[in-house]
Amino acid sequence: MRNIRLFLLAGAFGLLIFHLCKGFIDLKPVHYHVNVREDDRKIQKTTESNSHVFTWPRCQKNESAANIKDFRSLPSHIKDFLYYRHCRHFPMLLDVPDKCGGADNSADVFLLLVIKSSPVNYDRREVLRKTWAKERMENGVWIRRLFISGTMDSGHEKERLNKLLKLEQREHNDILQWDFNDSFFNLTLKQILFLEWMEGNCPKARFLLNGDDDVFANTGNMVQYLQSLKDNDKSKHLFTGYVLRNTGPIRWSGSKYFIPVQVQESDLYPPYCGGGGFLLSGHTALVIFNMSKSITILPIDDAYLGMCLAKAGLSATSHMGVKIGGLHIPSNNLDRYDPCFYKDVLLVHRFLPAQMYFMWQAIHDPSLKCVFEHKTI
Ligand SMILES: *[C@@H]1O[C@H](CO)[C@@H](O)[C@H](O)[C@H]1NC(C)=O
Ligand SMILES: *[C@@H]1O[C@H](CO)[C@@H](O)[C@H](O)[C@H]1NC(C)=O
Ligand SMILES: *[C@@H]1O[C@H](CO)[C@@H](O)[C@H](O)[C@H]1NC(C)=O
Ligand SMILES: *[C@@H]1O[C@H](CO)[C@@H](O)[C@H](O)[C@H]1NC(C)=O
Repeated sequence: MRNIRLFLLAGAFGLLIFHLCKGFIDLKPVHYHVNVREDDRKIQKTTESNSHVFTWPRCQKNESAANIKDFRSLPSHIKDFLYYRHCRHFPMLLDVPDKCGGADNSADVFLLLVIKSSPVNYDRREVLRKTWAKERMENGVWIRRLFISGTMDSGHEKERLNKLLKLEQREHNDILQWDFNDSFFNLTLKQILFLEWMEGNCPKARFLLNGDDDVFANTGNMVQYLQSLKDNDKSKHLFTGYVLRNTGPIRWSGSKYFIPVQVQESDLYPPYCGGGGFLLSGHTALVIFNMSKSITILPIDDAYLGMCLAKAGLSATSHMGVKIGGLHIPSNNLDRYDPCFYKDVLLVHRFLPAQMYFMWQAIHDPSLKCVFEHKTI
């Protein structure tokens, strides 16, 4: 009898050790192929019940990128882009799987604010949380907020910034962070990672505002505009903002936007919405994600989304309320921060945190009197 008990105990102990080790092995990045292709080796994490997070083997540098013509003459950030452009999966550091109440209930989210924010932009996130990106019910429908981020720097500095985001997360629950270098040329990657997250965790959200953390967005007006659309049910296409037409890659190597032919040969981008801020339907977001799977990553994120739209046979439309180039103020004698100019727009680029706070308060001041009207919605 005692022997049997001892035997069972030892067996249970063995099983426990086995499971602990298994869990430990599962969490470590595995390198089991020399091939850099990663697509077929998705391993779903089953430990976190309703999160759609996947773990992936660490993406390997594509050494043969160095064989591209005149590779050595390219600026280092472009070399870096070419070495890693095939990488589409990075470990998630911060997640909010229940942001939309779970995939099935996500239709309750009317407007999901998806704001690109680098880890260092703490002050911008703080001011957005108490102004236009406040989570709330507006005109009977829900607005939810997410910041999407990568990592910056390395060593202690990287750790410190990660910890900062973690602290913000604890208080606000509004950050998706992946472990990739949050650089300008990785913005397309950031968009794709977000769309993948959305497909798993918030597929039924009605509309999204996709934008930067330095724009002034009149989210109240956005809700009104979206509610005014005829039959705005969940299967309709919408992609609207400030449309750029007949533009192409900048070939001057001194520009921040420089794209050499080694990265993109074509001299023309399809029409697309300026990335500072645009509105799209949840349906269109999922169509874009589907298209992106077969389009090579290009560094200019907004132009890339235009390519995805074009491939789906869809187009971007202009909304006169989206002022990416700033606001046109009719005369130099007028105050360019007169709230009356901002009360009726959808979005203006760009605002500093203090201006943002001031303007949000000013346009909601019941005693605000405007003699002129700038109706754009
Ligand atoms: C690696 O780079 C070479 C040269 O650009 C390219 O032909 C190849 O398809 C790339 N491999 C992957 C897996 O992306
Ligand atoms: C991130 O990318 C930028 C721009 O390419 C580069 O300057 C920086 O060194 C990179 N940081 C890390 C940690 O790789
Ligand atoms: C994008 O992020 C990855 C992962 O951190 C990094 O290896 C790559 O260099 C980054 N690309 C650019 C262009 O910064
Ligand atoms: C995206 O692709 C998946 C799988 O091919 C398909 O089931 C889904 O309907 C597509 N979604 C949209 C919005 O096109």
